[in-house]
This record gives sequence, structure tokens and C-alpha cells, in this order.
Amino acid sequence: MSETVDLSVDVAGVSLANPLMTASGTCGYADEYADFVDLTQLGAFVTKSVTLKPRAGNEYPRVVETRAGMVNSIGLANVGLEAFLAEKVPLLERLGVPVFVSIAGSGIADYVAVAGRLEGVDVVRGVEANISCPNVKEGGIQFGTDVRQVSRITQALKRVCRKNILIVKLSPNVTDVAAIARAAVDAGAEALSLVNTFTAMVVDTDTRAPVLASGRGGLSGPAIRPIAVYMVHRVYTEVARGAGVPIIGMGGIQFARDAIEFLLAGATALAVGTALFVDPGCLLEIRDGLAEYLRRGGHRSLREIIGSLQAAP
Ligand SMILES: Cc1cc2nc3c(=O)[nH]c(=O)nc-3n(C[C@H](O)[C@H](O)[C@H](O)COP(=O)(O)O)c2cc1C
Repeated sequence: MSETVDLSVDVAGVSLANPLMTASGTCGYADEYADFVDLTQLGAFVTKSVTLKPRAGNEYPRVVETRAGMVNSIGLANVGLEAFLAEKVPLLERLGVPVFVSIAGSGIADYVAVAGRLEGVDVVRGVEANISCPNVKEGGIQFGTDVRQVSRITQALKRVCRKNILIVKLSPNVTDVAAIARAAVDAGAEALSLVNTFTAMVVDTDTRAPVLASGRGGLSGPAIRPIAVYMVHRVYTEVARGAGVPIIGMGGIQFARDAIEFLLAGATALAVGTALFVDPGCLLEIRDGLAEYLRRGGHRSLREIIGSLQAAP
């Protein structure tokens, strides 16, 4: 009988049985994948981003596969806060794992309104602010690419998040991800998620037009993993480690060794998105692969390897 290893981690006071969670937007509200993967075995479940009002999202086509990933421009299609509370929360309550609700909006007031209502929902343990979506009200830039905006939205959310932990999800479409992370942490973020998708375009050479109706989208999947690992490591060493703020690392995780890269680089927890479209069962395979890696290395706890990256030989 092989020795048991402790896979549990702590994300800003929320205890997870293992570090694995769903990446926002890739697993709906737990109803879509329930037949394919035992979600009760996850460390936590992260929902599709929820906005104050329902959103139909962008025109089709809004997803295209690439050689090593996919580009999506779903455009935050979601049921809206009221339907989420009435129809989706009862499903999430049955999971028995901590739930983090991804929230989005077109202005700070939207985010604050959604986060405020989620304070009253027991099963919700945290909100993950998706600040990588266009901020239409304030000039069409993304919140997540401007340090002042990141600071403002984080401060505003921090005022309403009391029961729920405040996770800020960073955009990778910036020149200095550590500066953005610093702004979020200084303004009260209790955990950081990174990365969201990389802005990208796929061209149909026959029509000579972009494949996606909206012209561009966000690249995810194996292609982005090395950049995501680099960004996690930078944020860990320059901001998060010193501040004691956990990182939820993501971007192209499909196998246990991918997950281990992120842990060594400084992530405390891990989210899997695009790989679920290939193999929904990969989440549990990754979990078992992590345990095996730790056993082989003589570790008793996953926490021993977080941020333990060595200097290059
Ligand atoms: C189809 C699709 C929808 C997504 N929707 C959201 C979303 O609603 N909110 C969000 O914060 N991120 C969203 N993301 C980004 C993922 O949560 C994740 O940050 C990104 O895809 C990188 O992880 P991956 O390579 O494992 O997919 C979406 C990604 C995909 C592929």
C-alpha cells in the first residue's frame, strides 16, 4: 500500500482538499460537466463569469481550435446574477466543495453589486474578479491592463467582500504583470489568479477574413503554458511571496507535469480550462499524478514543493 500524501492547500483561509479547480468559463456552473467528471473530488469549483444582467455573448463563430490550443471570443455569455442565484446556486450547493464565483461587469458598480449579493450565499467562499474584460463605460480599455483601474476596482470590491475572499484574476496582455499584481495586492486582493487568455487572431486564408466573428479572441491551452509559468514565477517572486498572497496558476495545464511546473514556479492552487474540452477526466488524473510525484520525491505534503524552483543548472 502506497503512503498517503497531503494534497491540501490553503487559499487565503479557504482550505482545499487538493489544489485543482476548474478555470472560469470552461465548466459552466457545474451542470455541464457533471456527467463526465466527479466534481466533488475537486479542490474548488470556479464558475463561469457572472454579470449583473444576463449576456448573450458575441456572435458565432466564437471558438476556433489552433494547433496547440483554442481562441475564444465567447464575450461573457452568462445567465446573469438573478438566474445564477435562483437556478445555479442549488446545483453548486450539492458539490460539497468550496465555490469561487467569477464576476465581471462593464463598470466598477456592476462588480460591486454582484460581489455584494454573493456575500449572502453560504456555498460561495470567494469571488474571482475577472478584470480582463473590456470596460465599456470607462474608455474601452480593460481594467486589468491599467494599474490605477486595477487599484480602484480592487479597493471597491474589498469594501464589500467580507465573508468571501477576494481573488483578482490578472490579464497577461500587459507589459509588466508584476506591476499589475502589486496594484491588486496593495489594494487588498487576498489571492491572485493568472493567467487569463492572450489576445489573438486566426485568419481564414480562403475568405481572407478573421475566423471569429468578433475578429479576435483569447488564446488558451498548451501554447500559452510556458508564458503563463513565467508570469506566475515573476508575480510569485516579485509580489506574492513577500506579501503572503497565494497564486492560482493556470494556462495550458493538461497533465500532472504541467501542474507541477506551476507549483514549483510559485502557484499554491491550479486551474484547468481548455484541457477539459479534450479530456474532462484530466483533472483527477492530474491530482493522482501530483500525489505520485510527491511520493517519488519523498514528500509528505504538496505544500513542500510550492515555489521550490531551483536556479538553472
Ligand atoms: C471557452 C472559454 C471561456 C472562458 N471564459 C472565461 C470567463 O468567463 N471568465 C474568465 O475569467 N476566464 C475565462 N476563460 C479563461 C480561462 O478561465 C483561463 O484563464 C484560460 O483559458 C487559461 O487556462 P487554460 O489554458 O487551462 O484554458 C475562458 C476560457 C475559455 C477557453
